[in-house]
Amino acid sequence: MPSGGAYGRRATAGGPEDEGVVRVTAVVMVGSLKGEIAGALAQRYAAVALPDLDPAAAAGVRVAVTSGVWGVRSEHLDVLPGLGAVVNFGVGYDTTDVAEATRRGVLVANTPDVLTDCVADTAVGLVIDVMRGLSAADRFVRRGEWEAGRTRPLARRVTGARVGILGMGRIGRAVAHRLEAFGAEISYHSRTPKAEVPHRFAASPRDLAAGCDVLVVTAAGGPGSAGLVDAGVLDALGPRGFLVNVARGSVLDEGALVEALEAGRLAGAGLDVFADEPHVPQALLQRDDVVLLPHLASGTVETRAAMVELVLDNVEEFLARGRLVTPV
Ligand code: DGY
Repeated sequence: MPSGGAYGRRATAGGPEDEGVVRVTAVVMVGSLKGEIAGALAQRYAAVALPDLDPAAAAGVRVAVTSGVWGVRSEHLDVLPGLGAVVNFGVGYDTTDVAEATRRGVLVANTPDVLTDCVADTAVGLVIDVMRGLSAADRFVRRGEWEAGRTRPLARRVTGARVGILGMGRIGRAVAHRLEAFGAEISYHSRTPKAEVPHRFAASPRDLAAGCDVLVVTAAGGPGSAGLVDAGVLDALGPRGFLVNVARGSVLDEGALVEALEAGRLAGAGLDVFADEPHVPQALLQRDDVVLLPHLASGTVETRAAMVELVLDNVEEFLARGRLVTPV
């Protein structure tokens, strides 16, 4: 039976009977979490958002649930002295200070595997959309340009395209697997070559970009990959090259991307992630050669339900047995 629930004496009075009653919970939410997970945590553990936590109840908190958008860092760990685990709703946990958590003996979990297929589907969707100009063509029809007798420029062929995958983890492999069905010529770059991956390994992101028509970024975020796709990589991709990013905005130098697009040094980009979400640079909003998504790669009913379940499994396993199901 999960622990938690509201009981005890609360510090802020809601009426004469509530005076001095502290609301106790074993689980807090750090950051504004999506409705799917926030609702489940509130229902099962009476979890509260960290700013709403009564300081008198802070020592009783054992698990902090967060997401890749927010993360748990020193300032959160400082106010939760009894914390034993951080559970991240999402596979990317670059916003959580794992080194500091580990130093304090706090375990960290994420939600791998369950979202791999949907993120890979989104990446392939972006490849097709940006190379074939589907979203741009949709806008063209809606503006009445087709009816007015105008024509769209020819697009680029996806079948048989040379695809470079930056980051050959679970999601990179799932993207490669899908694009094999398109007869794509696949190459990849990751920190080390993967013996089990049958595709060509490129020695650097620049080498990878120089040999492909579309570069798909699936590398994990964090300091190790910050700015990996820079002006040099975009120039290697060149004026006939496309960029797709479903990883993290931090992996891409967004300013360099805007400059490359504006100068005609890149053909287009499909982006699900941005450096400062939900802010999207104005220069991108005005362009027809980019496809812009609101970080929705894992956003299906099925996958979000599986992610909620995995978060709840981790919370429950930690509260019951002091360990995690999917530690990072
Ligand atoms: C994650 O889970 O980290 C991804 O951003 C999903 O879109």
